[in-house]
Amino acid sequence: MPAPGEDEVLVKVSHLSLDPYMRGRMSDAKSYADPVAVDAVMTGQGVGHVVESRAEGFAEGDLVTGMTGWQSHAVLSGKELRKLDAVLAPSTALGVLGMPGFTGWTGMTKYGRPQQGETLVVAAATGPVGSMVGQLAKRAGMRTVAIAGGAEKCRIAQETFGFDTAIDHHAFDEVADLRAAIAAAAPDGVDVYFENVGGDVLRAVLPLLNTHARVPVIGTVAWYEGVSTDGPDTLPALWRQVLVKRLSIQGLIIFDHWDDFPAFLDEVAPLVKSGGVTWLEDVAQGLENAPQAFLDMLRGGNLGKQIVAL
Ligand SMILES: NC(=O)c1ccc[n+]([C@@H]2O[C@H](COP(=O)([O-])OP(=O)(O)OC[C@H]3O[C@@H](n4cnc5c(N)ncnc54)[C@H](OP(=O)(O)O)[C@@H]3O)[C@@H](O)[C@H]2O)c1
Repeated sequence: MPAPGEDEVLVKVSHLSLDPYMRGRMSDAKSYADPVAVDAVMTGQGVGHVVESRAEGFAEGDLVTGMTGWQSHAVLSGKELRKLDAVLAPSTALGVLGMPGFTGWTGMTKYGRPQQGETLVVAAATGPVGSMVGQLAKRAGMRTVAIAGGAEKCRIAQETFGFDTAIDHHAFDEVADLRAAIAAAAPDGVDVYFENVGGDVLRAVLPLLNTHARVPVIGTVAWYEGVSTDGPDTLPALWRQVLVKRLSIQGLIIFDHWDDFPAFLDEVAPLVKSGGVTWLEDVAQGLENAPQAFLDMLRGGNLGKQIVAL
């Protein structure tokens, strides 16, 4: 058992977050963050209780969150921890009111810029990012189209998260057929394509974007296992779309936006408490099941925010 040093806190982790970005930390390809070293503790955000504190402002029993890593206990400095509001379920700090929810909110408010009567398309729509995006867009008066994997997720996208339409991307072998389904669901074209996945969903949506459409680029989970470079060069067609439709395509890494996290909590935490914004969690039991739950999530095996309960 590690012991906390001066200004440090020992935390017993109760919930661990599994996030798609972790796939990048398991690769030594150059990216925006360094990979986790071989034999180091896998990185990740956790929630837990303070067991022992030598840091000002933290006492035994406090509920906290921080980058605990995939382990049962972690020593972190007080500066690396945030105390949590005990009113809400602790795991909400990892999803709807944590990094993924904040990413959806930031992407929509800063780059999606929703307008009443416009149309949104988002994939991975029942996940913590997509479900936040869909609910915010609906609250802003947009028509919302969910793309999700399977009939059950499509039902939940509409019934739980209030999407106007939901399309099962597994139901189409050809991109053209997926595109036709999205076109039917978005008869006035697409004004915001919130990019969570890349792959065939992007290929299907791209020609449906309206003039002055916005594309916040958040993640490309369809390509996290690698991208084939075979086939025709589609870059000229993509670039032409950007030009003639005056598209706004904006990459977002949530690191850059942490200063806005209090503003996000001020706006969204009351909505979560009142039920105006809802969320789903998929909870795996035990640290030993984290690797399999992580692999399943990348392939769509999760229904809602993937958590591990320790
Ligand atoms: N840029 C940032 O700072 C930032 C921060 C947070 C998250 N993200 C990104 O945001 C995206 C969503 O994250 P999340 O935490 O909300 O994940 P999530 O939805 O809980 O899980 C990933 C989902 O991706 C979908 N998916 C996997 N392969 C797909 C494919 N080939 N085509 C279409 N959908 C596919 C699956 O949903 P279905 O079963 O519904 O297809 C799967 O459940 C990820 O790309 C993640 O990397 C980026």
